[in-house]
Parts: sequence; C-alpha cells; structure tokens
Amino acid sequence: MADEASLKELLSLTEEIEAQLEYLRELGVSYLAAPDNAREETQAASSARAPVASATASAQAAAVNRSPALKRNAEAEARRATDIEATARARVTTPPWPNTAAPTLAVRATDASEQADMATRKNVRTPNTNPLDASTPAPQDTLFGEITPKDELSLPRPGETLADVWQDIGPQCMRCPLCCEGRSKVVNSEGHPQARLMFVGEAPGADEDAQGRPFVGRAGQLLNKIIEAIGMKREDVFIGNVNRCRPANNRTPTTAEAAVCKPFLLREIAIVRPDVIVVLGNTAMKNLLDTKEGITKVRGQFQDYKGIKVMPTFHPAYLLRDPSKKRETWDDMKKVRDYLNTLKSKTED
Ligand code: URA
Ligand code: URA
Repeated sequence: MADEASLKELLSLTEEIEAQLEYLRELGVSYLAAPDNAREETQAASSARAPVASATASAQAAAVNRSPALKRNAEAEARRATDIEATARARVTTPPWPNTAAPTLAVRATDASEQADMATRKNVRTPNTNPLDASTPAPQDTLFGEITPKDELSLPRPGETLADVWQDIGPQCMRCPLCCEGRSKVVNSEGHPQARLMFVGEAPGADEDAQGRPFVGRAGQLLNKIIEAIGMKREDVFIGNVNRCRPANNRTPTTAEAAVCKPFLLREIAIVRPDVIVVLGNTAMKNLLDTKEGITKVRGQFQDYKGIKVMPTFHPAYLLRDPSKKRETWDDMKKVRDYLNTLKSKTED
C-alpha cells in the first residue's frame, strides 16, 4: 500500500507539471511545443498511471482471499484510482493560443502604453455581402448555463442585408459627437455574413481608424490568436464594435454615444444570427447586455441576447496589459468552443 501511495503522489505531481505546462503555453511561451491535439496525456502521466493501476489490481486480487472488510477497502481504493485517472484526463485539454509570434506579444504586453499603440496589420478577407441567412436559429438549451431572457421577443428576421446597414450608416456619419473629434473612417463590422460566432468590442483604436476595419491593431492580433485557439479562422467569424468611430485618445465612448451607434450592431446581429456572441470587455458587455455587474464577475457565464448565447470575457487590450488574465479568457473560450461543438453534433445527428 505504501508503494501505491507514493505512485499516486508521483501521478499527482505529473498532473501538476502538465497543468503548469499548459498554463505556460497559454501565456504564449513558444518554445514549449504544443502537444498534438490527439495526444491526451504525457508519456510520464501514463507511465505513472500504469503501476498505480497494476498495484490497484493486485490489491484487489489479494483482498478476494481476505476478509470482506479488507475487500471493501481494496475496492474503494480502486475506485479512487479510477477517479484520479478521470480527473487527469479531464484536465488535459487541447493547446490554446497558437505559438507563432506569441513571444513578441507577450513581451510587448508588459508595455503599459500598448492600447494606443497598435501597429501591425493583417490581411483578412474583405467583408462579404451575401444575402440573409435563412436558416432557423439553433434551439437553445441550458446545458451551458441558465438562460433568463431579458426580452421575450425573439430576434426578428430583418428584410435587409449587411450592405443595407452599412449604406444606411454612410461613410461620414454625424449622428453622435464621435463624428467630430478626429475620426478618419467609420469602422463597420466585418467577417462571415452567416458566422456562428461573433465578437463585439468597444470602439476602434488608431489602426482601425486608419484602415477602416475592426480589430486590426495589436488587440486585433491577439483576437486572431484567440479565434485560432478554438480551431476557427478570423474569416469564419463576424467582428464588430458597439461604436464605429474612434474616440479621441481612445477614451471610453459615453452611454449616449453607445446608444446612438448600437442599433446598427443590433441590426447586424439580426442579419448574421450567430449562435454565440462574445462580448469583449466591460464597455461592450454593459452596452450589449445592460448589466450592472462588471466583467470580472460576469465573465465566463453565458448570458442571453434574444435567444443568442452571449459570453462576456476580457478585452484583448486588457489581456495585453495583464497577460495573467489570458487563462480566464481561455477558460471562457473553451466554453464557447464546446457549446458550438454541441450544436454542431446536434445538427449532424
Ligand atoms: N479595441 C476595440 O474595442 N475595438 C477595435 O476594433 C480595436 C480595439
Ligand atoms: N476592464 C475592462 O474594461 N475590460 C476588461 O476586459 C477588463 C477590465
């Protein structure tokens, strides 16, 4: 039994190391090769597990010839070993953030001025203006969190396209004060017109303002990695902001400014009809959901927008300032990935 106890200790140590390695990979430490998706556990963990299993088997066999009490003890021991194995398997997950260019981001993220300084650009597909998605929205369930509809109305099916919305906004929108404090371009949403997943940020920064495209600066590059970490590509998803014009000095848009611009986002949501909306950061979350609670409290818990699941998580610009928070965002994104996979397997059944 003493041997079995030390083997279990070894196993738990191995699991601890695996968890630490996963955490470092999540933080973008690129020299730690990400494990193959298919590899469920490290060699060390499985070789530590084998003697535990065999010791457990011997204990059980010996117990057969002893008293019923000893036999019960051995069986309980075996059950505990099985539980340990199950926990170990559950903790080993697929690797998060792909590692390309991660060290640069991790280093730059320690720079407190990152938010204003979004430099590199990335090419993605130009917005597609296909007509309406005519599919029925997927049935919602409570497996991934209780849904309390804030609005009994289901999302109306609009008789318009994304191009109609963008045309309505116009290239020189003057509906709110953000028109006139240095904006260069109105930044409309972009992405797949029938995306299953949508991201909503706060407002454009300097790079977005210059290019007229959302999330193309440093926060956008991190967002691309977050999208790739759940096995999707940027062009598969739809990306937008509550406000479409850059506020001077990247100030937070006022509630009034958000209220003026938000209807365009809501029209886009009604057209795209995603299965999940990820709201990035406090401002986007409060504007979309009217919640009183802050992002730190609400993140990771599915919310509801007219029957669409909404996952609040930290804003990528915040993750650049505090990379230790990437773990929470990764946890939230795994919930999103798992929910989307659940819907997919339902439609494949
Ligand atoms: N931050 C946002 O909230 N939106 C962008 O598009 C870029 C940075
Ligand atoms: N505060 C914010 O506004 N956004 C975050 O993502 C985190 C803290």
